[in-house]
Amino acid sequence: MPRIGDDAPVFQATTTQGPINFPSDYKGKWVILFSHPADFTPVCTSEFMTFASMESEFKALNCELVGLSVDGLYSHIAWLRTIKEKIEYKGMRDVEVKFPLIEDITMEVARKYGMLQPGESSTKAVRAVFFIDPVGKIRTIIYYPLSLGRNFSELKRVLIGLQTADKFSVALPADWQPGEDVIVPPAGSCGVAKERMEGADENIKCYDWFFCTKPLSKEKVFDEILGVVEKQ
Ligand code: BEZ
Repeated sequence: MPRIGDDAPVFQATTTQGPINFPSDYKGKWVILFSHPADFTPVCTSEFMTFASMESEFKALNCELVGLSVDGLYSHIAWLRTIKEKIEYKGMRDVEVKFPLIEDITMEVARKYGMLQPGESSTKAVRAVFFIDPVGKIRTIIYYPLSLGRNFSELKRVLIGLQTADKFSVALPADWQPGEDVIVPPAGSCGVAKERMEGADENIKCYDWFFCTKPLSKEKVFDEILGVVEKQ
């Protein structure tokens, strides 16, 4: 079972957008690889419509989406066509899923990624979400059960959080949203302790010696660092 910090397992697959070599085709980009239990099911349909509607927001963050289920290619194509042509849900309609959806009838990829969790289902993948960074390393893994649809705002928050933590060498506190204070490295590293003790950086606020934060504006996160066109 892959873990955070591991290299993303390599595979080749057929998708609704043609063949892919994973993760090498995505070098230099973030990827969210996610599985769903089955085509033509309601929770998965609501998820695909939501994710497809947000695809441009993820692309703006240099992140591509790749879906997977253990269904076949023709099932995927028929389901995505049905979504586009027939389903109107929560104001979303005519939704075209442009990101690749992997066919995995042999369950080879699902097994490699630990998406099959027999206590939940031995025939369907759980709702797994793998965040893979531009060098192909797994950075976050989230699993949801069959009965619960994912929160896509949270998935976007996780992506922005990972990118922010990398770019600014900071950590992010509970429920962090862009624009809120970030946690500075632990005392003793990078001269931060000295700065703090000498009061050199007046922006740093310490709650105790081990817990210090500083402001990081939304503009800095999006404009200067992530280069995002669209501001939220
Ligand atoms: C659904 O997506 O609705 C679903 C899929 C498999 C089991 C239960 C629900």
